Amino acid sequence: MATVGPNLCGVFGRRAGSAPGYPYSADVRALGITWDAETLNRWIAGPRAMAPGTHMTFIGLENPKDRTDLVAYLKVTSTAVPN
Ligand code: HEM
Repeated sequence: MATVGPNLCGVFGRRAGSAPGYPYSADVRALGITWDAETLNRWIAGPRAMAPGTHMTFIGLENPKDRTDLVAYLKVTSTAVPN
C-alpha cells in the first residue's frame, strides 16, 4: 500500500501522519495538525504548499467547489467503520 497512499478511512479527526504502519514523509509527520474540513481543503488545494517534501504526487484541485465536494465526500466516507 505504501506506493499509493495512507488509508483515508477515519481521516477526519486524525493527526496528520498517524495512520498505523504507513511510511509517511518527514514533512507530513511534522505537520502537527489534525485533519478537519479546513485543513483537508488546504491540503487538496496544494499538498506541496503545506508539506514541500510530501510523497503525494497529486498536485491538487484548483476549483474551490471541487474541493468542497471532495471534502464532503471524505467526511461521509471516512466516518464509515475502518476496514
Ligand atoms: C483527491 C484525492 C486525494 C485526497 C483527498 C488525498 C488526501 C490525502 C491526505 C489527507 C493525506 C495525509 C493523510 C494522513 O495524514 O494520514 C494524503 C497523503 C498521501 N497521499 Fe493523498 N490524497 C489524494 C490523492 C492522492 C493520489 C492520487 C496519490 C497517489 C497517486 C496520493 C498519494 C498520497 C501519498 C503517497 C501520501 C503520503 C504523503 C507523505 O507521506 O508525504 N494521494 N493524501
